[in-house]
Amino acid sequence: MAENIMKVKAKKDRYDVTYMAGDDSGFDMMEGALLVLESLDLPINWRRADLGWCMWEKSNKKFGEGDPRCNTVPPETIKSIEETDATIMAAITSKAGVKGFKSAILQMRQLFDLYINLRPAKTLPGIGTPLAKNPDIDIVMFRENTEDLYAAVEFFPLPEEMFSLHKGMERFREGKGEIAVSWRVFSEEGCTRIIRAAFEYAKATGRKTVHCCNKANVIRQTDGMMKRIFLEIAKEYEQYGIKGIEENADATAMWLIKNPQDYSVIVASNVFGDILSDEASQLTGGLGFAPSGNIGRNTALFEPSSGSVPKYAHQYKVNPSAMILTCKMMLEYLGLDEAAQKIEKALGEVLVESRPGTLTYDVLRDFRGDPDWEKNAASTIDMAAAIAQKINPEFTGEKLEAAKKKVHEMCAWDEASLVGFDD
Ligand code: IPM
Ligand code: MG
Repeated sequence: MAENIMKVKAKKDRYDVTYMAGDDSGFDMMEGALLVLESLDLPINWRRADLGWCMWEKSNKKFGEGDPRCNTVPPETIKSIEETDATIMAAITSKAGVKGFKSAILQMRQLFDLYINLRPAKTLPGIGTPLAKNPDIDIVMFRENTEDLYAAVEFFPLPEEMFSLHKGMERFREGKGEIAVSWRVFSEEGCTRIIRAAFEYAKATGRKTVHCCNKANVIRQTDGMMKRIFLEIAKEYEQYGIKGIEENADATAMWLIKNPQDYSVIVASNVFGDILSDEASQLTGGLGFAPSGNIGRNTALFEPSSGSVPKYAHQYKVNPSAMILTCKMMLEYLGLDEAAQKIEKALGEVLVESRPGTLTYDVLRDFRGDPDWEKNAASTIDMAAAIAQKINPEFTGEKLEAAKKKVHEMCAWDEASLVGFDD
């Protein structure tokens, strides 16, 4: 049997999983998500690692600004991802215009060749969709995660020979001021493996359509290649009753709003997938509920699509849902499907019941129309505890307090607790 890229390489009785709390409110959301996982008694040994802005600061302090060893990802973190079966991370903070700063997640995607960016957008009970027709949306996006404009092949200032490389460059030679060029690189391997992953997923889950969003009508070489490979591979899956539909990405952006229920599996190149996945997530509750997974041949790293909300750092205000659903995806990757389903069900129940003291401010403000959302907001941990208690009604009293203490310690954010750049 062909290997299933969407699942952990080897089945085990117990798994080692790296967790990384990221930056700012990332620590709060990870603490909440771990509390939910604590209610499940999972066969997981946790290993802490750190990455992001906090490690950039730590390395700058240690090695001095401008030292080539400064990074958002310490060697210890890379080792931990290598040595464990899967990784979860919370949101990280990026700052523009910092010399030498490289995004931690972009580095990990390249380093571990995590070529699938898996982004589901599914209507949640008690959240619904802002769309008038309020359909059930259940979209799974396969975004290519390593190529395209993210290949980081960029030119500035432009070397002289670039002007004579292609006749289309002639008109940029004079009178245009500075010129910058970023190369959009697609490979046959890159297109083939993401498209195949999308069709294999459709086949395994009984989904009937795969849309490929491209701009082959304008961007003839890169998108043309993607479209050609898509149509070839689509033929192979006709026998399984799966229809491959190629579509202009701008049309997809429009139809997603108009008829989101027409989409099931979407495959897109990196930049289009980046944009379309945010759009799709907005149809099902926004980034506060949007999980994602970065999956490669050897490992997988799961992260919420939400940001690290620096203004609320360590105040336990942010919604833990995106991180909790991210953990659910990680459990599915490990084959712990029963636990994964319990999490989704419990979150749905808490959202539907809408009991006082169980929903974070954003849910009250954006989905419940509560004018007193600030006052009535539950903390990240309160909401997580409500979900944990749905999973395990005995998760109360001393048991709950002990679990809270444990996950709080697991996510300690003081400088001395950060792991990495230690020798
Ligand atoms: C995402 C984000 C990242 C990306 C950023 C933070 C580098 O937008 O995961 O979608 O562009 O891929
Ligand atoms: Mg994005």
